[in-house]
Amino acid sequence: MQYRALGRSGINVSLLSLGTGGASHFGQKTGVDDAGRKRLVDKAIALGVNLFDTSEQYGASEELLGNALVGVPRDKYILATKWSYRPGGKLADADALVTAVERSLRLLKTDVIDIMQFHGILPGDYDQVMERYIPTMLSLRDQGKIRLIGFTEMMTLDPKHGVPLQAVTEHPDVWDVVMLKYGILNQWAAKEVLPLAEKHGIGILNMAPVRQTLTRESDRRTLFDSWKADRTVEVSSLDDEKPFDWLVHGDVESVIDAGYRFAAMHSGISTVLTGTANVEHFEANARSLEASTLPDADYQRLVGLFSESAAKN
Ligand SMILES: NC(=O)c1ccc[n+]([C@@H]2O[C@H](COP(=O)([O-])OP(=O)(O)OC[C@H]3O[C@@H](n4cnc5c(N)ncnc54)[C@H](OP(=O)(O)O)[C@@H]3O)[C@@H](O)[C@H]2O)c1
Repeated sequence: MQYRALGRSGINVSLLSLGTGGASHFGQKTGVDDAGRKRLVDKAIALGVNLFDTSEQYGASEELLGNALVGVPRDKYILATKWSYRPGGKLADADALVTAVERSLRLLKTDVIDIMQFHGILPGDYDQVMERYIPTMLSLRDQGKIRLIGFTEMMTLDPKHGVPLQAVTEHPDVWDVVMLKYGILNQWAAKEVLPLAEKHGIGILNMAPVRQTLTRESDRRTLFDSWKADRTVEVSSLDDEKPFDWLVHGDVESVIDAGYRFAAMHSGISTVLTGTANVEHFEANARSLEASTLPDADYQRLVGLFSESAAKN
């Protein structure tokens, strides 16, 4: 496993990390039982993965992750979780953050959350999040209940990273970590957010690096058809049926393999989250991140084709 610095935190994180949300929700939506989750977590630890991401929003994932980590020495892993500041659509009181942190600590069976994140800051909410909740977050850090402060973007509503850009521009000292989406069809972050995050030592957790548009034909077709109509991105040089198959050659086993590799190639990315709860898929993704590069000509072609792409999913 390769490791990268998590920004200025002094922590090194594995290049592949495990997320317990996404389509699988740590196997809760894909028929994986507790024994399967334990196997997955043990495999991740055995492969050198040291970052696990969860949220109060992912069904019972926090508790299930806490259970699956029983027996693993606490210094072997970093826990990231999230708080939804808009339950029922309304801004919560700051006290609710304290309650949420206590609950996450209990469910995760730990006395410190390494990375506490606001879950999916909506465009337009950033100033209120800063004003209402950051003093409480700082106080929780002073009390030793959390170590690092972060947030995640709402990728479907903010695909060009308006909130991350505001955060790394206006308050780089507040944010230790930002979670955003960067991938073959989501290269927008390379324009400003990733260079600024690197400059200020803000760690970047790359979420949902392959997810949907790259892998689901119907989503990809809708996106490509819109580009063909408005010419935002020129895709006429690609095969209509299999537009990414040219990436599969040499030791690149699949389009998904290429997707995870690409996701790690920018030096501003600290770690790439995979949301699979399937052990074979997880092992394949670990191989992708172990290789962690595409041939330079393929990488350059992807940048040439999709640098203006900010697919929502
Ligand atoms: N706003 C937010 O806070 C936010 C939003 C999205 C994600 N996240 C975080 O990022 C994590 C990852 O997100 P994600 O799960 O959407 O991202 P992802 O890893 O890019 O996509 C997972 C999807 O890809 C499939 N997949 C993965 N590896 C595969 C392989 N080797 N072969 C075939 N299919 C494969 C999975 O299917 P299988 O299950 O069948 O393997 C699943 O459908 C989440 O768990 C969460 O922690 C946070």
